[in-house]
Amino acid sequence: MKTIPKYHICFLVLTMIFSSCSKKQDSRVIVNFGNNWKFHPGEAEQAKNPDFNDSSWRMLDLPHDWSIEGKFSPDHPATPGGGALPGGTGWYRKAFTLDEEEKDKLFFIDFDGIYMNSEVWINGKLLGKRPNGYISFRYELTPYLNFRDTANILAVRVDNSKQPNSRWYSGSGIYRNVWLVKTNDIYVDHRGTFVTTPEVSEENATVSLITTVKNADESAKDIQLMTTIYGPEDNELDIKRTEVSIEAGEITDIEQVFDISDPELWSVGNPALHKAVTQIMADGKIWDEYNTDFGIRHFRFDSDLGFILNGEPVKILGVCNHHDLGCLGAAVNTRAIERQLEILKDMGCNGIRTSHNPPAPELLDLCDKMGFIVMDEMFDMWKKQKSEYDYSLYWDEWHERDLKDFILRDRNHPSVFIWSIGNEILEQWDSTGIELTRELYDIVSELDTTRPISAGCNPPAPENYLIRAGVLDLIGYNYHHEQYPGFHDIFPGGKFIGTETCSALATRGHYDMPSDSIRRWPYRWDLPFTDGNPGNTVSAYDNVSAPWGSTHRETWRVIKNFDFLSGMFIWTGFDYLGEPTPYWWPSRGSYFGVIDLAGFPKDSYYLYKSEWTDEDVLHVFPHWNWNEGDTIDVWAYTNCDEVELFLNGRSKGTNRIEGDKLNLMWRLVYEPGTIKAVGRRDGETIMTKEIRTAGEPAAIRLRADRDRITADGRDLSFITVDILDDQGNLVPYADNLVTFDLEGPGTIAGVDNGSQTSHEPFIAPYRKAFNGKCLAVIRSDGDPGTITINAGSEGLEGARLELTSEP
Ligand code: GAL
Repeated sequence: MKTIPKYHICFLVLTMIFSSCSKKQDSRVIVNFGNNWKFHPGEAEQAKNPDFNDSSWRMLDLPHDWSIEGKFSPDHPATPGGGALPGGTGWYRKAFTLDEEEKDKLFFIDFDGIYMNSEVWINGKLLGKRPNGYISFRYELTPYLNFRDTANILAVRVDNSKQPNSRWYSGSGIYRNVWLVKTNDIYVDHRGTFVTTPEVSEENATVSLITTVKNADESAKDIQLMTTIYGPEDNELDIKRTEVSIEAGEITDIEQVFDISDPELWSVGNPALHKAVTQIMADGKIWDEYNTDFGIRHFRFDSDLGFILNGEPVKILGVCNHHDLGCLGAAVNTRAIERQLEILKDMGCNGIRTSHNPPAPELLDLCDKMGFIVMDEMFDMWKKQKSEYDYSLYWDEWHERDLKDFILRDRNHPSVFIWSIGNEILEQWDSTGIELTRELYDIVSELDTTRPISAGCNPPAPENYLIRAGVLDLIGYNYHHEQYPGFHDIFPGGKFIGTETCSALATRGHYDMPSDSIRRWPYRWDLPFTDGNPGNTVSAYDNVSAPWGSTHRETWRVIKNFDFLSGMFIWTGFDYLGEPTPYWWPSRGSYFGVIDLAGFPKDSYYLYKSEWTDEDVLHVFPHWNWNEGDTIDVWAYTNCDEVELFLNGRSKGTNRIEGDKLNLMWRLVYEPGTIKAVGRRDGETIMTKEIRTAGEPAAIRLRADRDRITADGRDLSFITVDILDDQGNLVPYADNLVTFDLEGPGTIAGVDNGSQTSHEPFIAPYRKAFNGKCLAVIRSDGDPGTITINAGSEGLEGARLELTSEP
C-alpha cells in the first residue's frame, strides 16, 4: 500500500513552482529541495520503505549538520582532532507529490554533498551510494516516480559512525544543498557545458562552448542549439545557432565558438562575469534552457615572474580554509561563506585554497563574483590512510569517478586557477606515488587542460615521489619557507606556488611576555611545552608557530621579495573546528587562523592588511590592563613610515618601518592610563590610535554586520557583542555570560566567542564572552518584520538592537 499524501505544503510548493514558469513551462526547472525533511538520528533500517511511519521524526530544513548540535566530549570517536563532537548515523526522509501533467518529464535529484557514506532511495528503490562526503552527485528519479495523489518518498541514510575518518571537523548529514531538477527528454546533460577562452587579448576573445545534449526520447530529433552570450551588464554580445539531428538515446557534444570584441576581462579587482544562455529548440518550442556563468581572462605561471593574470603580475595572497562555518558547523549557508570572504577581502586576501576537499558550490560562485583566485583541491589522502576510517578505504573503487565528477562540476568557474590532486599525500614518500600522480594527472587533463595541476608537497624536494612523477605543472610547497630563495637551485626552471604556509598559532586577545623571540611551540617562554599555558592559550604576538611552519612575518618576508614566488596560501584564514595543535582536550578547535572561529580578527590580520592593501593601517596591541610594574611589549602593524608611542602623554620613542621590518615594538613598564600611537608618513600624521586601561565590565554593546536581511529563512545577521566599561572601553579579559532574547521573525542560528576551549553549545540563547567579545548569529525565519535582539548579563547594562527582515 502506498502512503497517503500528508505533505500538502510540498505538493503546493512544487506545483506552484513548476507551473509559475509560464513561458518556460516546457523547459528546465530547478527547485531548492531543502525544506521540510524528516530527520532521525541513529539507525532506522525500515525507513527506506515508502510506507514507513516517520510521524515522530523531527521536521527540519536542509542544509543540516547534526554533529554541531551535539555536546563536546573527548570520548567521541572523532576525538578532539575531529572537533570532539558526535558522529553516528542518521536518516532523512522527504515526501513530495507531483502533478499528473509532469508525467512525461525527467526528474533528477542533485546533492551538493552528504557527509558521508550516503545511500539514497526513492520509493523504496536504491539509487546508489557515495562514500565521499564532499562530492556532489546526481541520481535520476524518473522511472520510479508517482504522480497525482500518491506521495514520493526520498530516503537518505548517512553513515558517519566509523571515526576517526578526518583530520578536522567534518560535520554529519545532508550538510549542503539539494536540488530537484525537471527537464524534458531532450536536454543539456548533467554538467553539460564546458566553456573555455582559447584566445584572449584586450581587443578580442574567442569563447568556446561545448554543450552535451542528450536525447532520451524514443525517436530521433532535429534540434537547433541556440546560445546567446551576455556581458557583465546583461548586454547581448553574440549569438550562435547550430542545427543537429540526434538519434534516440544519443548523447552528443556540440561546439559553438564566439568572438567577443573588447571583452571585459575577469580579474581580482574586477570580477566581470559573462553568461551563456543555451536553448534547445525543436518543433517550434524550447525544450531546455541552460545557463553557464563564466569569465574571460588569460593567465600563466611563469618561472621568473610568478603568476601573471591578463598580462599583469599578481601575487597570490591566499589562505587555506576548511569548510566549517564556525558555530553553524558544516551546514552550508551562502551568507556565512560570503561574510568569511568579505572579512578576508578586507585583509587584502585574494586567494582561497579549498583545503583539502571539494568545496560547496556556493563558495566558488562567490569567489567568481568577488574576485578570488582558487586552488581547488580534491584529496587529503590516496591509497595510504591518514585516519583509521578515511577515504583510503574507498580509494580503489571511487577515486576516478569522484575526481572526474569534481572537475566536471568546477571547470567553468573563472575563479578556479589551480587543480590540486592532493595534500601531503603519504605516497610522496613511496614509489607508488609516481604512478598514482600520473594517473590522477591524466584523469584531470582529459577533462581540462586550461589550468595547472599541482599538489601540496611536504617536503617539496626533488626526492618527493609526487614531484618525481615529472608531471606536476607547479611545484606546490607546503612550508619550508627557508628554501624559497633557492627554489631555482632545487628546481631549475620550475614554477612555484606556496600551497600551504606558516601554521602560526594564536589565541585572540591573549599575550605572553616577552614577545621578541620566536617559539616553535606554544609553550610559555619560561615553561616546557608539556605544561603549556593555563587555559590552553597561545600568545597572539606573531611569535609562535608549529615546528614545521613559521610565523606570519617569516614567510611573508620571503614571498614578498621574490617575483618568481607566485604567492602563498596561509594555513589558515579562519580557525576551524578540530586539530587543536599543539594542545588536545579541553581544546577542540584550531589556533592557526588569522581570524578566530567567531570571525574576529587576531592581531596578525593587521600585519597582512598593512602589507596587502592600500588602506592606511595602524594597529596597536596588546590591551592596556596589566599589573603595575609589569614589562609589556607594545607592537604596531602599520604602513605609515614611522610611529611614535606615548604612555600617559610621555613619548616612548619613534620607531620606523625600515629594511625588512614588518612590525614595530616598544618595551614599556606598565602603568595604568593610555597608550597612544601616532603614525606618520613623510612627517605628516596619518593616523592615531589610543588604548586605555579598561575599568570593570559595565555594559553590553551590540553591532550587526547587516541590519537589513532578506526574509527567506536563510539570510543571516552576525551580531558582535562587546563588553565595555563605563567609559566605553572594551574590557579585554571580560568573560561575562550574555543571554539573548529575540522577538520577531528571527531565530538564533548559533553563538560563539572564538575560544578554542569553550564547551558551551553552539546553538543556544547565551554565550560567555571571551576576551571581551562574543557573537550571535541571527537567522530570518522566513517572514518579513522587525527582529529585536535584547542582550543581558548580570550586573551589566543590557543592549537592544533591531534588524529589518525584508521580503
Ligand atoms: C599541514 C597539513 C594541514 C594541517 C597543518 C597544520 O601539514 O597539510 O592539513 O594539518 O599541517 O599545521
